[in-house]
Amino acid sequence: MEEFHKVRRLPPYVFEQVNRLKGAARANGADIIDLGMGNPDLPTPKSIVDKLCDVVRDPRTHRYSSSRGIPGLRRAQAAYYARRFGVKLDPERQIVATLGSKEGFANMAQAITAPGDVVLCPNPTYPIHAFGFIMSGGVIRSMKVEPDNDFIPALERAVRHSIPKPLALILNYPSNPTAHVASLDFYKDVVAYAKKNDIIILSDLAYAEIYFDGAPPPSILQVPGALDVAVEFTSMSKTFSMPGWRMGFAVGNERLIAALTRVKSYLDYGAFTPIQVAATAALNGDGSDVEEVRGVYHRRRDVMVDAFARAGWQIPAPAATMFAWAPIPETFRHLGSLEFSKLLVEKADVAVAPGIGFGEHGDDFVRIALVENEHRIRQAARNIKRFLGSAGEAPDNVVALNARR
Ligand SMILES: Cc1ncc(COP(=O)(O)O)c(C=O)c1O
Repeated sequence: MEEFHKVRRLPPYVFEQVNRLKGAARANGADIIDLGMGNPDLPTPKSIVDKLCDVVRDPRTHRYSSSRGIPGLRRAQAAYYARRFGVKLDPERQIVATLGSKEGFANMAQAITAPGDVVLCPNPTYPIHAFGFIMSGGVIRSMKVEPDNDFIPALERAVRHSIPKPLALILNYPSNPTAHVASLDFYKDVVAYAKKNDIIILSDLAYAEIYFDGAPPPSILQVPGALDVAVEFTSMSKTFSMPGWRMGFAVGNERLIAALTRVKSYLDYGAFTPIQVAATAALNGDGSDVEEVRGVYHRRRDVMVDAFARAGWQIPAPAATMFAWAPIPETFRHLGSLEFSKLLVEKADVAVAPGIGFGEHGDDFVRIALVENEHRIRQAARNIKRFLGSAGEAPDNVVALNARR
């Protein structure tokens, strides 16, 4: 029987193949150090959990909640944007709460896409950026990720050669998986181009608060006039270690926010009220929780870069996000990222995410997530050192697995 139209557009998750191998290795007793999924391991700060527990006891909070977010939560998000970016937002018309930023992004795609609309999407990138639009009937044209001097010329080329003219451009800085960070000047150029050419900008700022070097990442909404064309997505998953709570936001252009709010009003009743109240308290906090989370990832990043370098694998230090985008060592590059990732599970007891899972231009890399503690990251480096050493002595080991495909 032929697969359903939408399902046919969703290829099997590449990461699943590594996960299966990981599961099998664990079942055989292996201690796999899992640096694969970007699933934060840190507990949600106690004050936020306590707030949830207090509020959940009130039966009035057990009813359907507000799809677009309770007013206090939207006000707290407006206050965050004012405090952090100096951007003034109207909580009534320019902010909607989402069930994590992934849901918000996918339903924005659903809300604005007509069949065949072209969307410019970075490659490699977090999969929902492309598949949110593919599921909505859109067509993806890949864009470079690096926010450098070649970006605007590449954008001009993409727009000139797309028929129909692109509906939207997706940006994600700090980037998952590459950890590239954009400057405000970069955003200024992109906003000017988008306004002139009537292109919507969807900016994913999920890693706004996970930064280590240099200035904190800017918001595209800091650019004067950006509200005419742009919407930005933020998430509480990484900032407050709340991935399972499913809480995020879309903010920005009123017409786009209204479109998303309308679609969501047909689909959901909002997050459980106690979650919304606890999220409000988190956003209104003094920032110390966020600083602590940032500190943990910063130390893990330093340990990872240092220990992996000593193991013989030079990995550029990411300036932000909870990921390192690691070039596959030369000897193994011909295998591609999926086979290399499988090898790391089988021979080094370390799981990473194959770069190909983020798009075809990611295949020379793997993504390493900083979601195990410093001790485990050092252990991963020791395992990898042993593996790299043995592969150097007996390269046949490497070919064997690839040939089994
Ligand atoms: C760039 C990016 N956007 C969005 C998300 C999804 O976050 P949320 O938990 O808010 O849905 C992630 C999660 O890994 C991400 O890396």
